[in-house]
Amino acid sequence: MELSEALRTTGSVREFTARPVDGALLYEILDEARFAPSGGNRQAWRVIVVHDATQRRAIGEAYLDAWHDYVAHLLAGVVPFSPLASDEDRVAAEGQRAAALAKSRPDGFAETLAEIPVMLVVCVDLGVLAATDRDLDRYQFAGGASIYPFVWNILLAARSRGLGGVMTTMATRNEPRLVEILDLPANYAVASVVALGYPQRRHTKLTRKSVSEFTTIDTFGGAPFTS
Ligand SMILES: Cc1cc2nc3c(=O)[nH]c(=O)nc-3n(C[C@H](O)[C@H](O)[C@H](O)COP(=O)(O)O)c2cc1C
Repeated sequence: MELSEALRTTGSVREFTARPVDGALLYEILDEARFAPSGGNRQAWRVIVVHDATQRRAIGEAYLDAWHDYVAHLLAGVVPFSPLASDEDRVAAEGQRAAALAKSRPDGFAETLAEIPVMLVVCVDLGVLAATDRDLDRYQFAGGASIYPFVWNILLAARSRGLGGVMTTMATRNEPRLVEILDLPANYAVASVVALGYPQRRHTKLTRKSVSEFTTIDTFGGAPFTS
């Protein structure tokens, strides 16, 4: 597959066929993904392939709990988990928690996470992460840039082999539970739970903003950069 086509058409896949994913194929995917860039080439990632049904269920529960919070935010009309959320936003979302629970559907992705063909948990060694914004007095996110390209590489490598999937961060909201389930050392954080499998269907017409909607010349308020 052409790289350009892959970049333009790799959408999230959350529904999978029952076809199992061969371990050797998963190894190949990780073997390709490992060429992702990272700050200082520190490669702070650590991947756990979760086979165990009890662990999968527990991770699924941690995910689902956070998913209900996500839906509660949407019901409250606030951006889910924005670092700039006000106290009012938080209270409004909390107020919708029961309504969010009532919206749960048994066959949803969040509700059936334990059954995905491949469950990868991508963890991060915070001790070697290059987080250049760590001393700024604002929400810090630069460290993620050393991990999520790797996660995205997993998804692209999967796509090129006929698989699909999605990177998720929902369960990180309940990271302490994951630390216990996966027996993570103290300096590790959870970047993503990645679902992979053979897609039931694939959507390739992605909805994204145009370049000139998010690119300007010289200053933030400068003229839009157009073709
Ligand atoms: C950092 C990050 C976190 C995400 N977390 C979740 C998640 O927790 N659960 C989920 O179902 N999708 C998650 N997604 C997938 C996004 O919902 C998806 O990329 C976006 O809606 C665009 O969908 P599309 O590529 O299918 O058009 C995440 C994506 C990214 C990049």
